[in-house]
Amino acid sequence: MALDLTRWTPPSASRPRRITILGSTGSVGQSTVDLIERDPECYRIEALVAGNAVEMLADQARRLRARMAVVANPGRYLQLKERLAGTGIEAAAGPEAVVEAAERPAEWVMAAIVGFAGLQSTLVAARRGAMVALANKEALVCAGRLLIEAVEESGGALLPVDSEHNAIFQVLEPQHRHAIDRLILTASGGPFRKWSLVDMAQASPEQALAHPNWDMGAKISIDSATMMNKGLELIEAHLLFGLPPDQVEIVVHPQSVIHSMVAYRDGSVLAQLGTPDMRVPITYALGWPSRIDGPAARLDFGALSALTFEPPDSGRFPSLRLARQALTTGGFAPIVMNATNEAAVAAFLARRIGFLDIAGIVEDVMDRWDDLGSSVESLQDVEAADREARVRTEEACKGRAPTN
Ligand SMILES: NC(=O)c1ccc[n+]([C@@H]2O[C@H](COP(=O)([O-])OP(=O)(O)OC[C@H]3O[C@@H](n4cnc5c(N)ncnc54)[C@H](OP(=O)(O)O)[C@@H]3O)[C@@H](O)[C@H]2O)c1
Repeated sequence: MALDLTRWTPPSASRPRRITILGSTGSVGQSTVDLIERDPECYRIEALVAGNAVEMLADQARRLRARMAVVANPGRYLQLKERLAGTGIEAAAGPEAVVEAAERPAEWVMAAIVGFAGLQSTLVAARRGAMVALANKEALVCAGRLLIEAVEESGGALLPVDSEHNAIFQVLEPQHRHAIDRLILTASGGPFRKWSLVDMAQASPEQALAHPNWDMGAKISIDSATMMNKGLELIEAHLLFGLPPDQVEIVVHPQSVIHSMVAYRDGSVLAQLGTPDMRVPITYALGWPSRIDGPAARLDFGALSALTFEPPDSGRFPSLRLARQALTTGGFAPIVMNATNEAAVAAFLARRIGFLDIAGIVEDVMDRWDDLGSSVESLQDVEAADREARVRTEEACKGRAPTN
C-alpha cells in the first residue's frame, strides 16, 4: 500500500486557500495558526476545532475570522457561544460537530487532533477529497487501509506533517521507487536516551515531558520518551511509502537536524535537514504542491558542532520492538497497541502507573489478545478493538501506582 501523490492534480492553484484546522489549540494547531496569521490574504478559515480550550479557540476564531468554531466537549458549548457572541462565527460542540467541521468544504485540512479521537474527522475530510495534512499519526496507524482507500477513491491527498515523513516525502523520488534501498527514520532518542533502566523506572511525568529538542503536546512527548513515537512512525512510514518493514530503519540522531533520509541502491542517501521547528513541515504542506516562504530559523552550519548517530536500544525502549511486532502481525495489532499505549500514557501522566509500566502494559495486552492478526474490515471493527483495549488497559493499570 502506498500513496502515489505524483498522480494528484490540484483542484485549482487559486488563492486564498480554504482551510480547516482540527486541533487548532494544540502544539501543531498553534504552529499552523501562526503560519496562517503571517499571510492572512492567502487563506480563508472554514472551521477550527478544539477539545476543551474554548478561550484560545474563540480567540483564534476571532483573529482568523473563522466561519465556524467547534469544541468537542459539549459541556463547553455555552462558554464558546458567549465568547463568540456578536462575531457572526458559528459555535458548535460535541463529537458530531467535530465531524461536521471536517465535512465543511475546506480544500486543505490540518488533522492535528491528538490520538484516536482524531480518526473519524480525518477520515471524513479524506473521503470528501480534501488535501489532508496529517499530523495525527494515530489515525493512520489504526485505520491505515481505510484512510488510504478514502484518499485514493476521493482523489484527495494525504500530506505527511510528521517531520520524519515530511522529510521523506520531500526527498523520495517516486519515479525511482524501485531503486530505494531503505528509508531511514531519525529519532532524537528523547529525554532518557542515556538513562539506565533503574533510573527510568523512577522517572516522573515532568522528567518524561522534558524533551531535549522539540516543544510538543504531552502525549507525543511521553511517546518520545518511551520511543513509542518512533514505533508509531515506523508503521506510518510503511503505510505512506509502501516499503516492507525490513526496509525501514531507525537511527538515533540526538541533534534532530536531519529529519529523515532515503537511501538508494546506487549508494546515494538523500536527506532533508532543518531546525527542529514544526513550522518547517507545516509550511511545506501548506504550500504543496508549490514551495512557499516560511519563518523558521535557518540552519546555521557554522554553529553546528556535530551530527552524530547511534543505533536504537530496544532493550531499554521495548516500544520499538512492540511496534515492529504490531506491524508484521498486522490486523488488529496496531489498533490494540495504539489504544493501550494512549490509555497507559494517560495513566502515567495521572501518576497511576510508573514509566516502564507503559510498555509493559502494551506488551501484556497485546500478548493476551486472541485474534491480533485477524483482518480489520470496517471502522466499526477499529472502534470496537480500540474500546476493548482501553478497558483491558484500565484493568492492567490497577495496583501499579508508583511509590516515589
Ligand atoms: N507536537 C508536535 O510537534 C508533533 C509533531 C509530529 C506529529 N504530531 C502529532 O500531531 C498530533 C497533535 O499533537 P500535538 O502535540 O499538537 O498535541 P496537543 O498539543 O496535545 O494538541 C492536541 C489538539 O487536539 C485537541 N483535542 C484533544 N482531544 C480532542 C477531541 N476529543 N476532539 C477534538 N479535539 C481534541 C486539543 O484540544 P485542547 O487544546 O482543547 O485540549 C488540541 O487542539 C498528534 O497525533 C501527534 O502525534 C505532533
